[in-house]
Amino acid sequence: MDFFDAVDKRRSMRGYEAREVEQEKLDRILNAINKAPSAGNMQSYEVVVVKDKKIREALAQASRGQGFIADAPVVLVFCTNPLKAGSKYASRGVNLYSIQDATIAAAYSQLASTSLGLGTVWVGAFNPEQVAEAISAPEGITPVAIIPVGYTTENPSPTPRRSLDDLVKKEHF
Ligand SMILES: Cc1cc2nc3c(=O)[nH]c(=O)nc-3n(C[C@H](O)[C@H](O)[C@H](O)COP(=O)(O)O)c2cc1C
Repeated sequence: MDFFDAVDKRRSMRGYEAREVEQEKLDRILNAINKAPSAGNMQSYEVVVVKDKKIREALAQASRGQGFIADAPVVLVFCTNPLKAGSKYASRGVNLYSIQDATIAAAYSQLASTSLGLGTVWVGAFNPEQVAEAISAPEGITPVAIIPVGYTTENPSPTPRRSLDDLVKKEHF
């Protein structure tokens, strides 16, 4: 799929078939994630691939009961690794770059999934301590985005966006 088609077709999908995601497609998504840019190319983030039903249910519970997380056959949990970025960039690495690294990779996962005919949704409303516990995250590794991936039962309309005139400032504010 053309890049701009993937950008146009991506929607937040909150209904999933139980059908498994083919390992080949999952590998392509993970390889796309791994090509994302990162501060100093340090890749100061971790990705946890969750297929286990009990862990998916724990993630849904930790995310205000958003049940579609448990329905998706694969759930990607993107976590910051702040000490990695911090070792090179001090507080800017800890407080900003590790989050940017993780979230750029998460965005890549959504577009890669769309181009492979899979649905995703970005889940940010969760209790980070509970999510960390569900995935047995080591100390200092903080979940920042949960991305369920699967064949979707939905075909939602596009959501509105700000006009470019409003969003984009010419030269300065
Ligand atoms: C940082 C962030 C947090 C979000 N958290 C949630 C969430 O917890 N649950 C949910 O259903 N959607 C969540 N979304 C999805 C947004 O609601 C969705 O992207 C937005 O409404 C635009 O719709 P679209 O993705 O279909 O274009 C989140 C998106 C982002 C970027």
